[in-house]
Amino acid sequence: MPSMLRGAQMVKAANKRKVAHGDTSKIPRASYQSATRVQPQPPTNHPVTDRSDGKRLSPRKVNLDCLDSSSEFIAAGTFGKCFLSKYLGFRVVTKEVASYALAQAEAKILESLPDHRSLPYLFGITPPSKDPPLLVMKFHGEIGRPLTLHEVIHEGSPAIGRQNWKAVLADIVSAVSTVHKSGYLHNDIKSNNILLEKTDDDQYKAVLIDFGKSRTISAPKKYNLDANQRDHYRKTFKHIAPELLKGHPQSFQSDTFSLGMVFKLVASKVECMKDLKELSKACTSTDPKRGHLCMKSESVFRLPNKLNVL
Ligand SMILES: Nc1ncnc2c1ncn2[C@@H]1O[C@H](COP(=O)(O)OP(=O)(O)OP(=O)(O)O)[C@@H](O)[C@H]1O
Ligand SMILES: [Mg+2]
Repeated sequence: MPSMLRGAQMVKAANKRKVAHGDTSKIPRASYQSATRVQPQPPTNHPVTDRSDGKRLSPRKVNLDCLDSSSEFIAAGTFGKCFLSKYLGFRVVTKEVASYALAQAEAKILESLPDHRSLPYLFGITPPSKDPPLLVMKFHGEIGRPLTLHEVIHEGSPAIGRQNWKAVLADIVSAVSTVHKSGYLHNDIKSNNILLEKTDDDQYKAVLIDFGKSRTISAPKKYNLDANQRDHYRKTFKHIAPELLKGHPQSFQSDTFSLGMVFKLVASKVECMKDLKELSKACTSTDPKRGHLCMKSESVFRLPNKLNVL
């Protein structure tokens, strides 16, 4: 058999093995979707055991002996708290998650994403014996405290110049498009879930965090809200695309809508970025005929070019 042909068959067989073990990484989206139609995914509380071939099933476990016992509270999330700690000497955030199944689900998504300067780096999750379960991630922030985009915008400090703002926005767009290209939706893009961090060249970079609501594009969530709830969500969670409140499934467009709301916030609060308003409108526009679906919103993949011409 010619060696190239054999190579292709081996790759195919390796991918089949990955799907059988619930590992969706490195499998192109199209083949992942067709594979999952035939082979259902294991439930999220699938027990984490070693595979018969001796390889580890994701998500990776941290070694509790290497995690500092002292930790400092830094933020409270919806479900649990986040602490600043050290793992193997690296500064890390430990995020409490409500259940082991949820910790596994969030960790699996983070592990499926490629390494990226604007996506969180996960060291692993704690073993099932640890209650509450923790996600252990690289810490992004300034002198021991995280700096969210929300804080920077509302406190007007630190001062960030226009070129750096453009780089920060490009980071966010690049993070979202990497998530999408990997076959996932983030589903919670907002200024609280974007961290800013100073780099060695004294510029700020952005990191998109919080994959607690993320899902594969093939399994989007549909909200089922009554009129009162819809009204409450519309007023409280302005970053959620309007069509989702009407029961349409989460989509690339609904993430693009949320991204547009981040642009809108920056445009309205940062003097030197007022011209971002047009792009924010393009991302959040609704289809006038249908009146609800953001069919006309910009594809996130075209946004880098649009940011360049600002
Ligand atoms: N890798 C990190 N580096 C620094 N700080 C972080 C990191 N991850 C999370 N944090 C801090 O912890 C906060 C809560 O984290 P996260 O948003 O992931 O939790 P959550 O429970 O899903 O929160 P919520 O639902 O309120 O958005 C963040 O806003 C941030 O201040
Ligand atoms: Mg959050």
